[in-house]
Amino acid sequence: MGYARDYADAIKHRARVPMEPADFVPDWADRPRKGKHYPGTESFPLPESDYPSGATAEAGCLPGRQPLPECSFTLPLLSGMLRDSYGLVGRRLGVQANSDLAALPHYTQTNWSRGTASGGGLYPVSVYWACGPSGPLAPGVYHYSNQQHAMQRLLTGDVTGHVRKAAGCGGTGPDTDQFLILGVKYWQNSFKYNSFSFHVVSMDIGTVLQSWRMWARARGLRIEPAMWFDEPRLNRLLGTAEEEEGVFAVVPLTWDSGGSREPAGDGGGVPGRPAAGGTGAGEPPSVRHRDVELSRRVLSFGILERVREATAADPEARPAPAALAGAEAVPLPGTGDPLPLPPPRTGPMTVREALRGRRSSFGRFDARRPVSAEQLGTALAASAGVTLETDAEPPGGRRLVKLYAFLNHVEGFEPGAYEYDADAHALRPVVPGPHGEFLQRNYFLANYNLEQSGAVLVPTVRTEAVLDAVGDRGYRLYGATTGAVSQAFYTVCTALGLGCGVALGFDNVSYAERLGLERTGETPLLIMLLGHERSRPADFRHEIA
Ligand SMILES: Cc1cc2nc3c(=O)[nH]c(=O)nc-3n(C[C@H](O)[C@H](O)[C@H](O)COP(=O)(O)O)c2cc1C
Repeated sequence: MGYARDYADAIKHRARVPMEPADFVPDWADRPRKGKHYPGTESFPLPESDYPSGATAEAGCLPGRQPLPECSFTLPLLSGMLRDSYGLVGRRLGVQANSDLAALPHYTQTNWSRGTASGGGLYPVSVYWACGPSGPLAPGVYHYSNQQHAMQRLLTGDVTGHVRKAAGCGGTGPDTDQFLILGVKYWQNSFKYNSFSFHVVSMDIGTVLQSWRMWARARGLRIEPAMWFDEPRLNRLLGTAEEEEGVFAVVPLTWDSGGSREPAGDGGGVPGRPAAGGTGAGEPPSVRHRDVELSRRVLSFGILERVREATAADPEARPAPAALAGAEAVPLPGTGDPLPLPPPRTGPMTVREALRGRRSSFGRFDARRPVSAEQLGTALAASAGVTLETDAEPPGGRRLVKLYAFLNHVEGFEPGAYEYDADAHALRPVVPGPHGEFLQRNYFLANYNLEQSGAVLVPTVRTEAVLDAVGDRGYRLYGATTGAVSQAFYTVCTALGLGCGVALGFDNVSYAERLGLERTGETPLLIMLLGHERSRPADFRHEIA
């Protein structure tokens, strides 16, 4: 077993044994941009798209809902999905308890908001679109510019054969010529989080994928990412150095090729060159445009470099569908009798409305109004139902994540720590009694009063079992799955009219000890807070999309 296990162990213990460089201070004045900058590329504005009222958050997030008849992507659908997930849709100006509050009114330090949450609000995921001949634009590689909500052409010519080949891991690859490719530009996160960075960005990938999965599912579209593929081939294609940007996921899209096509043209001065067809034979051509870095000084971190390398090794060793069977969540022994929860349901809010209305509570919880058992049960069902249906999982996915709930103020339930039994949709008591003091003592930041939340949900994964089952690249898989859980949680809480927020800044070991998780090998990976907020919190409405 490789370095990923050591890294996972260091992450788990970091509250007690600080990770190097322990005395690191970010250079905020020299921070990178929150997105890639490709000057000189031709930009194609993306069209407006509607979102039907029937495409509800309930249809997108809750397990067991009837799947819609399958349909295919079009340019307006792709545009809508990207805008609602990673496009800039508003400006954060509400009064909250974060330390950056004083900066928010200054235009140069504007915090533009997105439908998807992100660790530290750094948004390090790059989205590329490899468009083949059946697509609506000239075949090529495009970069999604979230500031402009536009596609920037990086290379002209059909290279989808190379993407298919990379995703095929020696086989034929997905039967499509449209792909979304997700990269992570490490420096965009590591300038702040240094060695911790890999842990955070692995979750960021999952937040984006889950936004897409919910958005798409509610409209009968499929998003099933591959996480094992010929990564060096894709790095060559994208013109990115693997030490600077990892390729974490490839998402094949079923495309409605009945749409109109832009004539191929000469690329309008774009220095990419046409590829030799879509067969994927030979070496891929390479994007020649380069992201222009804003930071004058880019640092590298030894621990980050080692875990990056470990999870990039053997990228084509795609696990067999049965490989993860032994890493699924298992019940905790010795819990109390199950206490049933009411059936999950949300209001009529659409996925689009929920994503656009989503935000972190950052200290605005107020326990005077308890959370109802139905609200809690709905948030638990949506979060526990998450799988990414990656290429390492059989159809329908594997249940890698389990949830615990520390109840502070929930109608009909005594305060205490519970295990969520997803099959029975019930809570099993683990540790009785109020946990407000425990929760606050084990949280690193000062921006939440955790006791004022209705409940704190804790997703856990049998992390060592995942790494044993599928190797070091499994770190990316469980990180992404946990990130996906957080995004489902945010979305469903918004649809329920609840405040919410997720956090990585907690002492994992204390939680594992409190719940007795050494018996199942589970690691607590996030804390997810939900509850009512103080009424009429000070805010300005500032939507830009
Ligand atoms: C993986 C992950 C980890 C996060 N960790 C924390 C945290 O430790 N503390 C916190 O207050 N917020 C945390 N957040 C919330 C982000 O800070 C927040 O999503 C981001 O700043 C954007 O703000 P918004 O959610 O209001 O749009 C986390 C979010 C994610 C996805």
